Amino acid sequence: MRILVIGGSVFLGRAFVSEAMRRGDDVTTFNRGITGVDAPGVEAVRGDRTVTADLEGLAHGRRWDAVIDVCGFVPRVVGESARILSGHSDTYAFVSSISVFRDWPAHPVDESSATHRCSPDAGPDDGDYGELKAGCERAVQEGFDGRVLLLGPGLILGPHENVGRLPWWLRRVARGGAVLAPGDPAVEMQVIDARDIAAFGLNQLHAGTEGRFLTSGPPGNTTFGGWLADCVAVTRSDAELVWVPDDVLAEHHVEMWTELPLWLPASPDTAGAWRASVDKALAAGLSCRPVVDTVRDTWSWMTADGVDTLATYRDTPDHGIDPGKEQEILAAWAATRR
Ligand SMILES: NC(=O)c1ccc[n+]([C@@H]2O[C@H](COP(=O)([O-])OP(=O)(O)OC[C@H]3O[C@@H](n4cnc5c(N)ncnc54)[C@H](OP(=O)(O)O)[C@@H]3O)[C@@H](O)[C@H]2O)c1
Repeated sequence: MRILVIGGSVFLGRAFVSEAMRRGDDVTTFNRGITGVDAPGVEAVRGDRTVTADLEGLAHGRRWDAVIDVCGFVPRVVGESARILSGHSDTYAFVSSISVFRDWPAHPVDESSATHRCSPDAGPDDGDYGELKAGCERAVQEGFDGRVLLLGPGLILGPHENVGRLPWWLRRVARGGAVLAPGDPAVEMQVIDARDIAAFGLNQLHAGTEGRFLTSGPPGNTTFGGWLADCVAVTRSDAELVWVPDDVLAEHHVEMWTELPLWLPASPDTAGAWRASVDKALAAGLSCRPVVDTVRDTWSWMTADGVDTLATYRDTPDHGIDPGKEQEILAAWAATRR
């Protein structure tokens, strides 16, 4: 297939590019050349998707079987690319998010669940991430003349993750000692590897499928305690996981999701977070590798080439707890247990 990836140089887009190249597809990437490095062998077209002339230059004289839009966050920007690429591709695959659903994360969702109301012409300040993603979906559906495939991932992990979730935990666990582990280790999660989304998405494109697929890991494919234990094992760390209950973390004003990445305290507001249905994608062939493989491969990526990647990996500023605060909480928790 001839495939255009809008983006393609960082994490999920990069996984799409690698998988497509592995299959022998011809790949064009379109990005500004700022954030990452394009894979060898792709046709790398430089441009800014917010600039109409750049999109027109990309489309001019080119045709693909499928566009994979991995970096769309603003409906009117995404609508512009959908319109300009109409007639230049049979299918437009848009990487959306589970956040488009109005009831998520309070309730379990599936492909038929209602999405946020958001205009396909909305600008960057017209909603939050999930609302704007819902508007982007509409912008593609209205703007693209051809098949539309919507891929709605839940939590994505894997090598090249740039958000700083699993990499933060791997680094923390590798440092060893007592590690503040949040909440209940038995909490069931659903985690998907970027490479499994890429393989699934490309299979659908090769099959000419259209419509919406939730692309998360199967519910319960790991637990918080399970993947954190995987982190200990793959880093061969002496870390001791000290599980501190949700309410104690709340007393210490620990930010859920970011300060201890991936931690969601039990609450009615988050009761459906890890329970999205992926039955439709599984029936269509979604195959998810064991989470321990994702953890191991992410660590291998971080420590490849004599730990260069580990040394230069920068956590995103809003991810990870300050080491002093972590120790304070551990000490306070230990004092209550004496
Ligand atoms: N992480 C999760 O758990 C999660 C969950 C659900 C959904 N998602 C979705 O998954 C996707 C993840 O994407 P990714 O960052 O991994 O994709 P990626 O395609 O690997 O990287 C982002 C790409 O976008 C390009 N880009 C950014 N701004 C651009 C612009 N104005 N014009 C042209 N290119 C531009 C970047 O290159 P330059 O900067 O060099 O231009 C880079 O190539 C997102 O759509 C996200 O909403 C993620």
